[in-house]
Amino acid sequence: MKKNSATKDLQFDTKWKYAPAPESADHIQLKDRYDLFINGKFTAPTSKKYFDTINPATEKRIASVAEANAADVDKAVTAAKNAQSKVWSKISAAERGKYIYRIARILQEKARELSIIETIDGGKPIRESRDIDIPLAAAHFFYYAGWADKLDYAFPGMKTSPIGVAGQIIPWNFPLLMAAWKIAPALAAGNTVILKPAETTPLTALKLAEIIQEADLPPGVVNIITGAGATGAAIVNHPNINKVAFTGSTDVGKIIQKSLAGTDKRYTLELGGKAANIIFEDAAINQAVEGIINGIFFNQGHVCCAGSRLFVQEGVANEVIRKLKQRIETLIVGDPLDKNTDIGAINSKVQLSKIKSLVQAGIKEGGECWQSECTVPSKGYWYKPTLFTNVAQSSTIVQEEIFGPVLAIQTFRTAEEVIEKANNTPYGLSGGVWTDKGAKAFKISSKLNAGVVWANTYNKFDPTSPFGGFKESGVGREGGLHGLMPYVNLF
Ligand code: NAI
Ligand code: MG
Repeated sequence: MKKNSATKDLQFDTKWKYAPAPESADHIQLKDRYDLFINGKFTAPTSKKYFDTINPATEKRIASVAEANAADVDKAVTAAKNAQSKVWSKISAAERGKYIYRIARILQEKARELSIIETIDGGKPIRESRDIDIPLAAAHFFYYAGWADKLDYAFPGMKTSPIGVAGQIIPWNFPLLMAAWKIAPALAAGNTVILKPAETTPLTALKLAEIIQEADLPPGVVNIITGAGATGAAIVNHPNINKVAFTGSTDVGKIIQKSLAGTDKRYTLELGGKAANIIFEDAAINQAVEGIINGIFFNQGHVCCAGSRLFVQEGVANEVIRKLKQRIETLIVGDPLDKNTDIGAINSKVQLSKIKSLVQAGIKEGGECWQSECTVPSKGYWYKPTLFTNVAQSSTIVQEEIFGPVLAIQTFRTAEEVIEKANNTPYGLSGGVWTDKGAKAFKISSKLNAGVVWANTYNKFDPTSPFGGFKESGVGREGGLHGLMPYVNLF
């Protein structure tokens, strides 16, 4: 039968035109220059150096932040050590909980301002920072505040003691949320912290420092210092750090693991991923298409658990790919502050060139590359949603983490085949399974070597649920009760 417009997929037929709906950034309060937050005060760096953080959607400078050197790190660690032994470990657990609740409530009160700052500093759509990053950050503080005076119930039959001082290093993809993941369980368990945000997205962590002042936390319990890799390394290697928590690239994770070998420091590493999103023939196809979109285009693909490898069962491959392309053409790419925007700016120039060079490698190796016809702004860092077909298991585009809006599509016939293909990666962070059969979802997910597997959904997070990877995706778990364990001695 010849296809006419009536047999087309109606739900994707219309590209709606929306009037611009930009969130106003007028009411946000940012300083032009930020010092280091050490021992409860903003302190000028010993290095006397500052660097700029820019808005990746406009390439305009937003503010400068201090670059902490080894002497600054030492000051912060000393403040944290004193605060831990003299104050934070001495007050009652219920009192610690109250402080953490206070942080959670202030985060909620300032949610709108924090969402806008997250969006201008990192490039993610305001809808995401408003609906996901900031509410989830507050939820983590609420959740762990609740555990502070219930640690005896968290680990029945055992007693806990804090580890001491935690050095925490976080990336640029979920800046405030990663800060909450790391700080909240550490404080609940009686530890003190030094946190370093990523150099391209330091501003919400510095706003969090102001919130911590407002919550009246004892000085030194939380120290927030800025800088790049050298600052991070100085934290990791400081002798008075008792635990390192790192989220970022597998390369840096390996460096950290090497430098901690032979020390008695504890560590958790949450590293890269190359997740398989698996669509079976019996899946609800339209929902699966939404799930694929959410899996890889959410936050421009700047997600360690992004569903960057798609496996579609042969019988529905043509339908899925056709619907996927139609859906992609309806996505709005552009101003991250606009409430209609689906895909914002790539976080940095460096990340953009990494994405471009991996896509070039994919084309050179014979992959078939399809890109959305959307237009992108002339200033700023942007990348169009991109699909690859005709790729092999060994293709660069299938093996390497791209951390951008680029999806590699492969097909499969049987469950056994897709399990083998999905597990053929050095990573093991996450995965997705789409099927109408509950038993099949359980069977497949139990055979995937991945820390998190979503069934008929993707990229869903909750503070009560542990998160973390196998193989080169890392060591240890964050979130839930599992996330408290790295911060306590059990006896
Ligand atoms: P990165 O691993 O260099 O940066 C993450 C954090 O580690 C930042 O705060 C950075 O200042 C710090 N850091 C850098 N070198 C360090 C060192 N030697 N010691 C201690 N801390 C150090 O990640 P980058 O370069 O920003 O991104 C590169 C790639 O990493 C991305 O393209 C992506 O594939 C992956 N990545 C994975 C993330 C995840 O959530 N698992 C997050 C960010 C990036
Ligand atoms: Mg920035």
